[in-house]
Amino acid sequence: MRAWNRAKLLWAYLTGRDDVRALPVEYIVETTAKCNIYCPMCPRETFKQPKEDMTADIFDRLVRESGRSAEHMMLIGLGEPLLDRAIFDRIEYCERHNIHTLLSTNGTLLHDEAAGKLLASPLAHITLSFDGATKESFEFYRKGAKFETVRDNFIRFARRKKELGRGPQIVVQMVRMEGNAHEVDDFVRYWSAVPGVDEVRVKEDETNLMRPDAGHTGEEWKHPCHYLWRGPMYVKWNGDVYPCCQSYMLEGSPVGNVGRQTLPEIFNGEAMREMRRLHVQGRAGEISICARCCTTIPHPALVAGSLLLHGATVRRLLPWVERAVYLAKLPKRWLRPPRRQPPPAPPSASLVQISAPPPKAAEAAPASHRAEDPALPSRPRD
Ligand SMILES: C[S@@+](CC[C@H](N)C(=O)[O-])C[C@H]1O[C@@H](n2cnc3c(N)ncnc32)[C@H](O)[C@@H]1O
Ligand code: SF4
Ligand code: SF4
Repeated sequence: MRAWNRAKLLWAYLTGRDDVRALPVEYIVETTAKCNIYCPMCPRETFKQPKEDMTADIFDRLVRESGRSAEHMMLIGLGEPLLDRAIFDRIEYCERHNIHTLLSTNGTLLHDEAAGKLLASPLAHITLSFDGATKESFEFYRKGAKFETVRDNFIRFARRKKELGRGPQIVVQMVRMEGNAHEVDDFVRYWSAVPGVDEVRVKEDETNLMRPDAGHTGEEWKHPCHYLWRGPMYVKWNGDVYPCCQSYMLEGSPVGNVGRQTLPEIFNGEAMREMRRLHVQGRAGEISICARCCTTIPHPALVAGSLLLHGATVRRLLPWVERAVYLAKLPKRWLRPPRRQPPPAPPSASLVQISAPPPKAAEAAPASHRAEDPALPSRPRD
């Protein structure tokens, strides 16, 4: 069933179909919007988040509805997953539906008890976020976290996994930014030597919060964006669904809500189809969010390859592929990170603003997180 779902996605992507009779392979699921530290490059520092967790109702519904097609769920969003009291049950629930899971943690709460529970759980992958090789840069980019505490929590966790001989794939990750780029080699050397660490990942900064002029030129979008076919779709704590991880922070609008619509209705709804059509026509730059997107663009051969393999295998291979490209063993065109651009033109009235049609009155769910937090600015519709 899952391989057939992937085959349908691959066919739809290769033939440029906007009407996709399948569901995404992967989801990003924000089980909590709470966090205990302040990272300047994280979108939650620009878009204030409410202290809310995803309800069991929304989470269970998402997993049940996607259970025959989804292969991988990243249980992360704009929050710290270890602040979600239900996180261990949620990993189990996904496992019962044969969905592999990934967490990413800031490590401040990864003490012995939480570490033991994670190692006893069926979690498949964990990213240990550590943005620097020195106390100075780490504590600048992970404001509120203590360098020595997080480092020691991560080392203990990795060692414990190695001693047990089982547990998730452990990836220690640094987001490369201006203030820590010179520490990449030290970072890779240090963490590669820690027993139990499987991969060391240097991830590009995929927001324009620290570099407002970062992005892609229109010519770099030679092929339609894979997110619109393969996923991951991004599900916020309140059930709002965004087409990709970039949309929310680029002030895009949801294309649906898990509490109000079925996944096929959302994935094949008019908003998603319109985005696919414009991408296939080479007009991605006309979509307001896509014109400012900071994602890394993979070569279509990599996208096609990712649809031939199980979603969990793709996730496992990703740090390796990135390393091969960045160490120049593969041509640079295989992965194009965002880069600095000439100053953008003033916002154009011709940019397409895409959003799901408003729900009918009877279907309207409780207010969205925007409405619940009066401190939040209202956002333009995308
Ligand atoms: C938003 S965090 C949530 C999970 C957890 N709080 C953490 O920090 O690992 C999810 C992932 O996004 C990464 N991240 C944060 N800001 C980023 C940026 N500007 N560019 C790329 N990745 C970023 C983090 O390193 C983390 O791996
Ligand atoms: S710890 Fe994670 S969620 Fe919290 S601010 Fe940092 S990157 Fe964002
Ligand atoms: S905003 Fe970026 S990642 Fe999202 S659909 Fe557009 S091009 Fe793809």
